[in-house]
Amino acid sequence: MPDAALLETRGLKRHFAVRGLLNRRIGTLRALDGVDLAVEAGEVLGIVGESGCGKSTLGKTIMGIHQPTEGEVRFAGVRVAAPGHPRPKSLRARLQYVYQDPGASLDPSWTLRRSMHEPLVIHTDLSRGQREERIREIIAAVGLPVTHLDLYPHEISGGQQRRIGLARILCLGPRLVILDEPTSGLDVSVQAAVLALFRELRERFGLTYLFISHDLAVVRSMCDRVAVMYLGRVVEIAPAAELFAAPRHPYTRALLAAAPRIGGPRVTENFTLQGEPPDPSEIPAGCRFRGRCPLAAPVCAEEPALDFTGPHGAACWRWREAARLPSAASSS
Ligand SMILES: Nc1ncnc2c1ncn2[C@@H]1O[C@H](COP(=O)(O)OP(=O)(O)OP(=O)(O)O)[C@@H](O)[C@H]1O
Ligand code: SF4
Ligand SMILES: [Mg+2]
Repeated sequence: MPDAALLETRGLKRHFAVRGLLNRRIGTLRALDGVDLAVEAGEVLGIVGESGCGKSTLGKTIMGIHQPTEGEVRFAGVRVAAPGHPRPKSLRARLQYVYQDPGASLDPSWTLRRSMHEPLVIHTDLSRGQREERIREIIAAVGLPVTHLDLYPHEISGGQQRRIGLARILCLGPRLVILDEPTSGLDVSVQAAVLALFRELRERFGLTYLFISHDLAVVRSMCDRVAVMYLGRVVEIAPAAELFAAPRHPYTRALLAAAPRIGGPRVTENFTLQGEPPDPSEIPAGCRFRGRCPLAAPVCAEEPALDFTGPHGAACWRWREAARLPSAASSS
């Protein structure tokens, strides 16, 4: 991994106990099961995968909302999370997690000014005047007039509430922002405005994003690189253009086949996703995609690691065969 990575995860795991009668532990749910990632400063790394594959758990474990079960998180070269390792206070503001709708957390009985001041009072030693100055700068950066600060949440639109929610986070001067499904529930025109705002803010404040999304079209337009997760692991990672043009892992090919509207090579019906992913408390031995994979073979009884050529890695014994199979686009 390059030395300059802003964020690194090494063998990161987060398991949850599965409990039965009388709260007795009856199993282990492996939500995150060994993730190695390196994110460069200024980069936008997309995280995609079916519901329940561990995307939010990855974001929350990086943030310190969940303690890792194993492995570690390093931020700017410093270990910030590991089992039993207390999170350095000084880093809290530098890493921020944005839920689907950051505006929803605004207190309805507070003016927007009070909501904006609150995180600065908690996390910084700035004087009232310094806080006000910073708030005015950020409010302008998210495209709202300063006069809005005297309003209450119900007096502004949902889109403006979302901007205020983001502004509260940006006030703290984060370097890495984890955006978890930031455009879900938005109609297309609002979505385009929100994405434009993310791009502008990234440029202006030198932000790095971890961009978690179900929407492959949005990921393709926003991200420099994309990591595909399956049952708690990264099964493919590549520069965005390459991943969408030449996917290697059978699971990635199936995901793309299920979203044909994003263009790129449509893949054959061989790669249609069958059924639901297994329960993460019962992950199969060997390749975890084996039960759903059209290319499964005896070699797949052993779990594959990510196999890289340049920046493109796929955790599949047979990715070369998978990548060579004709796409619907090229065979028609
Ligand atoms: N606090 C928790 N306690 C127990 N299990 C959890 C907890 N948080 C998540 N899980 C389980 O971990 C697995 C991964 O969940 P996670 O929320 O990370 O998935 P996701 O990829 O973000 O899904 P979605 O796309 O639906 O948001 C799921 O099986 C989920 O039920
Ligand atoms: S390792 Fe085998 S089962 Fe797993 S994705 Fe590759 S071909 Fe399919
Ligand atoms: Mg999630």
